[in-house]
Amino acid sequence: MARLLAQDAPLVLASHNPGKLTEIADLLRPYRLEVISAAHLGLPEPEETADDFVGNAQIKALAAARGSGRVALADDSGFCTAALDGAPGVFSARWAGPTKDFALAMAEVARRIGDHPDRRAWFACALSLAWPDGHTESFFARAEGQLCWPPRGAHGFGYDPMFVPLGATLSYGEMPSAEKHAVSHRARAFAQLIAACLPSI
Ligand code: IMP
Repeated sequence: MARLLAQDAPLVLASHNPGKLTEIADLLRPYRLEVISAAHLGLPEPEETADDFVGNAQIKALAAARGSGRVALADDSGFCTAALDGAPGVFSARWAGPTKDFALAMAEVARRIGDHPDRRAWFACALSLAWPDGHTESFFARAEGQLCWPPRGAHGFGYDPMFVPLGATLSYGEMPSAEKHAVSHRARAFAQLIAACLPSI
């Protein structure tokens, strides 16, 4: 049985990525939880030293929980391609370089894949809740789909314009946010978190 989340105490969002913060705020809105961002509290971003999404989400959530003395929620996510054996994967943010240039990161993915016939791609998302006593609860989900190139659409963030989820015709970058939330890796992991840690809502 997972540890439950108290609704009367603010939750620290342990992310400094504006695209993710917007999406997590959208997903949390119906639950009326008060949230504070890690940046607002002046918490530093820890180094992501794990080699998987769940490990890195736990590192970020624990650092924020210990640094703030409050329950913290962290997201570690990334874009993965079958042709590159899962890359960029946990290195998705790093492929954009110090200037966080995702047009460059997407072009690098497309260049490395070239005309490889396997166009399967997926987004992965790990969400971790951490309490100041070191307890964590983690959730993981994927959204399967196909690469599209050249990139399409200006919504969303990161690699959204080069991904078409299974069964859709629009890329994540072309979808209004509500449509992305209906199918996304982040929304799926979030649904697991709510079912486990806020089951009465
Ligand atoms: P990290 O979790 O902070 O290591 O960064 C993950 C990176 O993966 C982000 O900077 C984005 O580039 C990418 N990413 C994660 N989720 C999404 C998404 O929903 N859309 C587009 N890109 C994403």
